[in-house]
Amino acid sequence: MKIAVTGKGGVGKTFISGTLACQYASEGTRTIAIDADTSPNLALTFGLTQEKLEKITPIAENIPLIEEKTKTDFPGVFKLVFPVDDIIQSQSVMTPCGVSLLVMGTVQAMGSGCACPAYSVVRTLISHLMTSDEVVILDMEAGIEHLGRGTAEHVDVMLVVTDAHQASLVTAERIVRLARDGGIPLIALVGNRVLDSETKEQIVRMASSAQVPVAALIPYDGEILNAGIRGISPVTLTTPATRAISVLRHWIEGALS
Ligand SMILES: Nc1ncnc2c1ncn2[C@@H]1O[C@H](COP(=O)(O)OP(=O)(O)OP(=O)(O)O)[C@@H](O)[C@H]1O
Ligand SMILES: [Mg+2]
Repeated sequence: MKIAVTGKGGVGKTFISGTLACQYASEGTRTIAIDADTSPNLALTFGLTQEKLEKITPIAENIPLIEEKTKTDFPGVFKLVFPVDDIIQSQSVMTPCGVSLLVMGTVQAMGSGCACPAYSVVRTLISHLMTSDEVVILDMEAGIEHLGRGTAEHVDVMLVVTDAHQASLVTAERIVRLARDGGIPLIALVGNRVLDSETKEQIVRMASSAQVPVAALIPYDGEILNAGIRGISPVTLTTPATRAISVLRHWIEGALS
């Protein structure tokens, strides 16, 4: 199963992606988390040590790997077809909760340098993962741009995270519309940082006008915010917000069965 987590900047995508991934892994499911944000911080959310963080080279920035996969004997010509299974083995990092993490990074379009080989590796890797048997969770870049690039094209589930801010709701509605046009089988809204009945109402109202189901309402949770401030990984804490994420997991299972 492949789940993409989308939404406006700062709505809680990374927290939700990381927590969902850890919960699947703790059930014994092989889980791969992909940090598809150009400014990646999923590794930090998983609580990887500084030493491990420093060892991560995002795939799109790993020049030797890209060359090894795509280089030919002809200048300006690169391979489009190559195996990627070994990339998952060699480039993923094991998180403390047992999730294999892959960081995609930013494809640099530098001056005259062609960014195509890097794109090609990232695209091939993602489409390969999309046909695998594991649970794959993609923590997407904020906003709607990634929908145009097709990074989340073949996912089974798109979770659109929003809080009650008007700007978040407007972005969420746009994502829902585009994802629907793109033919994603299951699209659902996740309300986050729900403070009171008013914030809940805002989110539920938008869901009903966009005709999209609400998969979960995650409460505002001071412990999660505090964990971030103190540099503690929030993904394995047992708090009201992480309990709501386990409700979300069950909702997904029910909706797909
Ligand atoms: N339910 C919640 N209650 C309290 N704080 C939360 C909750 N969900 C997320 N946060 C906090 O909100 C902040 C933003 O969350 P997060 O980084 O997951 O958002 P994001 O959507 O991934 O942001 P970006 O678009 O920058 O990648 C973090 O400090 C996180 O700890
Ligand atoms: Mg994020």
